[in-house]
Amino acid sequence: MTRMPEIRNTTIRNIVILTGAGISAESGIDTFRDAGGLWEQHRVEDVATPEGFARDPELVLRFYDMRRAALSRVEPNAAHRALARLDREWEGRGSLLIVTQNVDDLHERAGATGVLHMHGELLSALCAACDAREPFTGAMLERPACKACGAPALRPDVVWFGEMPYQMERIYGALARADLFVSIGTSGAVYPAAGFVQEAAAHGARTLELNLEPSEGSHLFEEHRHGPAGELVPRWVDEVLSR
Ligand code: NAD
Ligand code: APR
Repeated sequence: MTRMPEIRNTTIRNIVILTGAGISAESGIDTFRDAGGLWEQHRVEDVATPEGFARDPELVLRFYDMRRAALSRVEPNAAHRALARLDREWEGRGSLLIVTQNVDDLHERAGATGVLHMHGELLSALCAACDAREPFTGAMLERPACKACGAPALRPDVVWFGEMPYQMERIYGALARADLFVSIGTSGAVYPAAGFVQEAAAHGARTLELNLEPSEGSHLFEEHRHGPAGELVPRWVDEVLSR
């Protein structure tokens, strides 16, 4: 058990929130590791690694085209809406950074701004030829041309296993300044995200886990609440805003 450093005073100004697949579960998007989760329907090596993409690009493009198309059939849930409310009403009281491991756009569709997608986004395309990024809503299986260089080399702008997540410096800077770190709907199975709680705690932040059930990293949090995000998150946002 990591010795909890002296928690800084309880004035909460700077908040970092990490969300994972669990916050989108009640919107109907499969999580990765829950029973029947995304990986059980596909071997990770085949659809979420650079090697898998090199081996069978069509399989990978179809996998992400299916997940992109599914976005139009789901809606943000009460947890996404509560974080968007916190994003609006925290203005002027301190800083709020929402870091998500999710590649869906439900935080944005609920109204949250400045969401940091550390694993990329389904609605963005990355050109494997010139590294340009562009918003993308169609199907990549048709091998559309990159708008910047014209090559038919677009790949999902999603961070695969073994690739570096995005904007890590910015995330660690925010964790170092955080007074409160909240993890919502993530299994704590995958690094570097699974280590953010220790990073925040080492700088004196309070730490809270909101998850359906204990995660692999639960023991690293000062406080945990277990239940559906759609119930826990709105209640927690009401608490924080009424402090
Ligand atoms: P990692 O090595 O820390 O991954 C460890 C965990 O990831 C494992 O405990 C397991 O839960 C899962 N994992 C990794 N490889 C797996 C495999 N072949 N089969 C099943 N589970 C596997 O993380 P990494 O591999 O260095 O990945 C680097 C980054 O890429 C991480 O931030 C990861 O979250 C991200 N990523 C994103 C996606 C996506 O679809 N957005 C998919 C995979 C990885
Ligand atoms: N409310 C709150 N938490 C939930 C809910 C819910 N309704 N449903 C599921 N959960 C929790 C599960 O208990 C689990 O801890 O969400 C977590 C989902 O964990 P994963 O499926 O592992 O998803 P995630 O933690 O986001 O995976 C991290 O791994 O495969 C890579 O890059 C991929 O971003 C993904 C990363």
